[in-house]
Amino acid sequence: MRHLLDTRTLGRADALRILDVAEDMRDTQSREIKKLPTLRGKTVVNLFFEDSTRTRISFEAAAKRLSADVINFSAKGSSVSKGESLQDTAQTLQAMGADAVVIRHGASGAPHTLATSGWISAGVLNAGDGTHEHPTQALLDAFTIRKRFFGDDSRGRDLSGLHVAIVGDILHSRVARSNVWLLTTLGARVTLVAPPTLVPQDVTAWPVTVLYDLDQAIADAPDAVMMLRIQLERMNAAYFPTEREYSRRWGLDAARMAALPTDSIVLHPGPMNRGLEISADAADSPRSTVLEQVANGVSVRMAALYLLLAGERPTHDAQEEA
Ligand code: CP
Repeated sequence: MRHLLDTRTLGRADALRILDVAEDMRDTQSREIKKLPTLRGKTVVNLFFEDSTRTRISFEAAAKRLSADVINFSAKGSSVSKGESLQDTAQTLQAMGADAVVIRHGASGAPHTLATSGWISAGVLNAGDGTHEHPTQALLDAFTIRKRFFGDDSRGRDLSGLHVAIVGDILHSRVARSNVWLLTTLGARVTLVAPPTLVPQDVTAWPVTVLYDLDQAIADAPDAVMMLRIQLERMNAAYFPTEREYSRRWGLDAARMAALPTDSIVLHPGPMNRGLEISADAADSPRSTVLEQVANGVSVRMAALYLLLAGERPTHDAQEEA
């Protein structure tokens, strides 16, 4: 596996391979000694141009559990403030011996540029680019859904027969995009629910149903409801109703939890804005998988780093080169 840039081009077999390796990694995390020697001598660079709690720390934990050395770069406090380019920043880190670069960037396409420009030879993992994709988030979400519904029988299974509703600011959400491609590749049915102003124009080309009414979506009995943060930092305020109006019409609260099937689950990629898109009742419910998502994120990122740095390659990558 050379790079992990998106889920749109990730085939079913490759996605299942990552999820199944993540199952193996998860098993190692219940042992007394969690560390594996697999990536000893390799160096992983976390190159973060946008803020992050879960993704950056999770990649760091994953790399360290596999015995890789980790270099953390944050644009804040770096020479980016003096005008240093992405090319020069990446090549500087490559010169310090990076084998893999995990990049989060505000510009959609920055990880693809890094992977295809020839600037660096390291493998590239997309940790979220602009409003485009966040592939490891979708992989950990799919892993979490599969684990909740199929438990110890998860290995090798896709998500056929499951219905996932993704609710909120779809327009600005790289998490929604990566989940739409991955969940449908794995056989799930996906419904998007949002205010009309927060739905992308090209959604008609996506393999999804779009609803503007959360209660209508809940009446269709989804197995999983994924609540999304409102990305005020990326939007013109004119797109957005008042917070009170948004919460009333598109927020998940105790009444809507009660209307969902009793075995349905609630996901949120974080960070949550309690009281806006999700109430404390819903966020802290036993049906909420928020902290399982965080824990599973380490296993999924261990799997991605292992497949990227230990030499196994997904078939779609090999096919592209053939
Ligand atoms: N889910 C997610 O990407 O969270 P962070 O922004 O904290 O990494």
